[in-house]
Amino acid sequence: MDIIYNEKRRIFKLDTAHTSYCIGIVDEENFLGHIYYGRKLANDDLAYLMRTEEAPFVPSRNNRDRASFLDSFPMEYTGSGLGDYREGTLSVRTVGGHTGVSLNYVSHKIYEGKPALDGLPAAYGTEGECKTLEILCEDSFLKLQIILLYTVFNDNDAITRSVKVINKGKDAVYLTKVLSASIDMDNEGYEMITLHGSWARERAIQCSPVMKGKQGVSSNRGESGHQVHPFMAWKSRTATQESGDVYGMHFIYSGNFMAQIELTQFDSMRAMMGINPENFCWKLEKNESFQAPEVVCVYSADGIGGMTRTLHDLYRKHLIRGEYRDKKRPILINNWEATYFEFDTEKLLEIARQASKLGIEMLVMDDGWFGHRSDDNTSLGDWIVNEDKIKGGLKYLVDEVNKLGMKFGIWLEPEMISPDSELYRAHPDWAIAIPGRTGSLSRNQYVLDLTRKEVRDHIYDMISAVLRSANIEYVKWDMNRQLSDIGSYGLPEDRQGEIFHRQALAVYELQERLTKDFPHILLENCSGGGARFDPGMLYYSPQIWCSDDTDAVERLAIQEGTAMIYPLSAMGAHVSDCPNHTVGRVTPFETRGYVALAGTFGYELDVTKIPEEDRKMIPEQVAMYHKYNDLVREGDYYRIASYAENHFYDCYEVVSKDKAEALVTYVQVLNRPNYHSRRIRIPGLAPERTYVIANPGDWPEIKQIEYTGETLHYAGINIPPLWGDFRARLIHFVEKKGM
Ligand code: GLA
Repeated sequence: MDIIYNEKRRIFKLDTAHTSYCIGIVDEENFLGHIYYGRKLANDDLAYLMRTEEAPFVPSRNNRDRASFLDSFPMEYTGSGLGDYREGTLSVRTVGGHTGVSLNYVSHKIYEGKPALDGLPAAYGTEGECKTLEILCEDSFLKLQIILLYTVFNDNDAITRSVKVINKGKDAVYLTKVLSASIDMDNEGYEMITLHGSWARERAIQCSPVMKGKQGVSSNRGESGHQVHPFMAWKSRTATQESGDVYGMHFIYSGNFMAQIELTQFDSMRAMMGINPENFCWKLEKNESFQAPEVVCVYSADGIGGMTRTLHDLYRKHLIRGEYRDKKRPILINNWEATYFEFDTEKLLEIARQASKLGIEMLVMDDGWFGHRSDDNTSLGDWIVNEDKIKGGLKYLVDEVNKLGMKFGIWLEPEMISPDSELYRAHPDWAIAIPGRTGSLSRNQYVLDLTRKEVRDHIYDMISAVLRSANIEYVKWDMNRQLSDIGSYGLPEDRQGEIFHRQALAVYELQERLTKDFPHILLENCSGGGARFDPGMLYYSPQIWCSDDTDAVERLAIQEGTAMIYPLSAMGAHVSDCPNHTVGRVTPFETRGYVALAGTFGYELDVTKIPEEDRKMIPEQVAMYHKYNDLVREGDYYRIASYAENHFYDCYEVVSKDKAEALVTYVQVLNRPNYHSRRIRIPGLAPERTYVIANPGDWPEIKQIEYTGETLHYAGINIPPLWGDFRARLIHFVEKKGM
């Protein structure tokens, strides 16, 4: 990894182990141009790629066509309103009501390490682990400074980028758009990949050709959302899982975002990502600064899988924090699908007693333990234990669970307020609302106005008192409605456009306090399932609940889309009861276990009520988790086949970093008559080493011979059909030692 500036050529070159990223300064006006992003290159002079020798020329050579120049030059980061008619990344409105902003290079700094971003989640790295480039640009007319930040890492191919805007003018200025990164490049027949979904159907992969015009995804829901995801990639048409050019951008942010590719008249592309400008207007007083969140950029010459593994490693080593970052997580049992709101101390203890005997390590008490909440219509905001249900109090319950040798975890939804709550009756103005307008309820609740410090402090005091009152070792932080009716009684009228972003910053502040004050608590984020599964939340919690859909078949697609960009260690996955509560499907308990094994692993069922043969299988699943979790959590992930694509079977693999073992999960969703065995290629192992199957008894029909890594990758193995639908198997390859 390195960052160099060639003073003669006026070119910056950022290198990771396998990629290069080049930026150039051109003309007397110091325009900053994007030159190249891709495979690692030698230090050649690539300035010609900016086409400044071609018409329309740089303004110093021909100011007659200044607008045409601005409209075609590959900008490194763009202003707006002055002649570049492509969508820009920075827009302002002055107190006089004018728009128009440009940025030109002033100076730069290159240094070891990486600065933290004020109040925001961001990748981290020490001096020696990473290097940072800061480019200071300015709009000299507005006296606005723009700092572009880039970091490269010595152990990862990602490049992180962010932007800071500082007002050096004499008046306030309104920022109406501050995206975090853009990349201008020629289109080479790219296809765009985005993630889409809905409740219980999160992160389905969609791929379509990049077309003339603008295409992308965005959220205006106050969170990243079930519906879209703050990620996009573009790949060459021939790129596959394991080969070809793939570029990705992923936003370390949990609020409104936009991710867009614009294909222009000249067949050049502008990819951009940042805070959604819709409903965004930030007043920047003189000498104040605004820090935009961080974007992770990835280039992979090794297909989608290369991008996947770069992101997994970056998040495991440079984003996720805390005690559990590199640790096996306790196997939990959550009572949500077991009891919903119908539980009391005795019921929870009954579950815990059974669960502890089976090897389950933690009981999580879900929604319904506080205020007078017996359904979802009430009590959010009243974080006081309901002792009619939790008889004997919380400490008694937790102590009893601890006596069984189990940990205890609790569910919270701190950002919300029910109209039927003591809190709302005392402070109706603490809900986000437009004064005078009837607010839109969702799940019969409003969102608390966390932009106000007194609201944040009150909620934090309440939840931290609960956490201090007993030996609580896990928190599930939920968020069950999206924002609407945007208005705050705490902000002046010219700052109402700041609410969405301030709310995201407030959630970050609360979770930062929680993780600092309770460093031993394992935090799992959640939002109506997986609506806030994003890199921003991952900075605070090492795991996130993936989806409310726990059906093993539905989960295949959900977990495929999630695992494309997130490490398996982050993916909340549980075994639940059948018929499944979301789709009514009945799948073998064994298969549910294999599918949940790809994530954090746990149970979401009433262990006292499930069939005896299922219960008997739990100790085996527990043992399987303990056996494979280090590999699953830390290994390299390869997607082998996609049920979402072939509607028939699913297959993925995790290979240990030292390539000494690999775990392949195969799920035959549907059986078909007259089918011979299916060929599966197993990539990622060391080509010259020899491997054997370590669990041959699990699938005796598979040929138990010695395989080289090369054979497994290029020739593969034959997978025999399994009898029935929804059947699954694990194949564990281990290196044959002493060869
Ligand atoms: C959300 C979560 C569920 C559960 C319920 C409780 O939907 O995703 O797991 O906690 O809330 O209300």
